[in-house]
Amino acid sequence: MTEVLFTNIAQIVTPQAGPQRGAAMRELMVIPDAALLVRDGLVAWVGSQKDAPQAQQTHDLGGVAVTPALIDPHTHAIWAGNRLGDFEARVEGMPYETILARGGGIRSTMRATRQASLDELVALALPRLQALSASGAATIEIKSGYGLDFETEVRMLEAVRVLQTRTAAALCPTLLLHVPPEENRAEYVQEVCHSLIPRVAEGKLAEAVDVFCETEAFSVPETRAMLEAARRHGLQIKLHADQFHTIGGTELACELGALSVDHLEASTEGQIRALAASPTVATVLPGVTLHLGLPAAPARALIDAGACLALGTDLNPGSAPVFSPQLALALGVRLNRLTPAEALTAATVNAAAALGLTDRGALSVGQRADFLALHSADWRDLPYTLGANPIQTLWIKGRPL
Ligand code: NIG
Ligand code: FE
Repeated sequence: MTEVLFTNIAQIVTPQAGPQRGAAMRELMVIPDAALLVRDGLVAWVGSQKDAPQAQQTHDLGGVAVTPALIDPHTHAIWAGNRLGDFEARVEGMPYETILARGGGIRSTMRATRQASLDELVALALPRLQALSASGAATIEIKSGYGLDFETEVRMLEAVRVLQTRTAAALCPTLLLHVPPEENRAEYVQEVCHSLIPRVAEGKLAEAVDVFCETEAFSVPETRAMLEAARRHGLQIKLHADQFHTIGGTELACELGALSVDHLEASTEGQIRALAASPTVATVLPGVTLHLGLPAAPARALIDAGACLALGTDLNPGSAPVFSPQLALALGVRLNRLTPAEALTAATVNAAAALGLTDRGALSVGQRADFLALHSADWRDLPYTLGANPIQTLWIKGRPL
């Protein structure tokens, strides 16, 4: 058994464990002059330092604020090549969807990623994961989706497995069916259902299957077929939906009981009502709003209607070169009109729920001892700071990263 009592904490600030919906997202517990007991990587006690139990070891945190570590429930952290040309073209006025429809965008990243070996993919992704953790992430979801061909999709998921041996952050692999091939798409969908998904499930290469359900990507019937196949093979499901058009992806996610539906920039009343009545997590990605200049997802209306809302970076080369979950949290306050308390809940326990996890995201007894020691004594520096890192140390299972 290893046991450490963390002392001299100006404040511990945390949501309750488990998914939080609506007004409950604002209910943080704040303990001033606090201490935290960690036993074998889990929180064993939390409270006022004056009431703290004895422990084998103590560690003085120097009078700073402590929050749960952040969880990034949506990244495309593995890719090769770059999208710097797209960036310039977009800034000069060409829309993201037009670049994609002309065979650029995601399809150009696919061409580059297919050329890259497993070792190259790992070497490219590792510093991106290090950047995410330096900005607070103890758990990171990583999607495939830049292969199209099955060998590359599987190689991307194998890269996640190798990356897991190189970082203490917990990595959650997701098979993403990102865009259909330009020809024979019906056959492709059938092959995904009858060959790729069974292979990924059999090899335990992914925990979930995600589909980009959009006018320029997969239709609702295609998405349904692939998500139902995922279900039959014991995998969790999630969707990219309502990024540009509301074609029915969110309604499908709620009907099928998806873990989360992500993006939602184009969502209106119907989708908000569906999410408010469903356990499916609404994941918003403010980095995309900033980088593509899209409307912000209606996070305020979603929370006010009672939905369970999460925040993610969507780290990817095309729509969100955002390497910081702390920045996503800070942008959620500015662009999506979350309160600072709601943003912390969205980036911790609700982000965990978007991954089907309930063992992390809060600093309460029995949870994983994944936490942030900030530079400051006031936790609000976490949602407040832009362009500098307010995090001094990320602790994962009670150990410094
Ligand atoms: O979540 N919208 C679809 N997929 C990604 C973008 C990927 C890319 O542009 O390379 C997203 O925004
Ligand atoms: Fe995405």
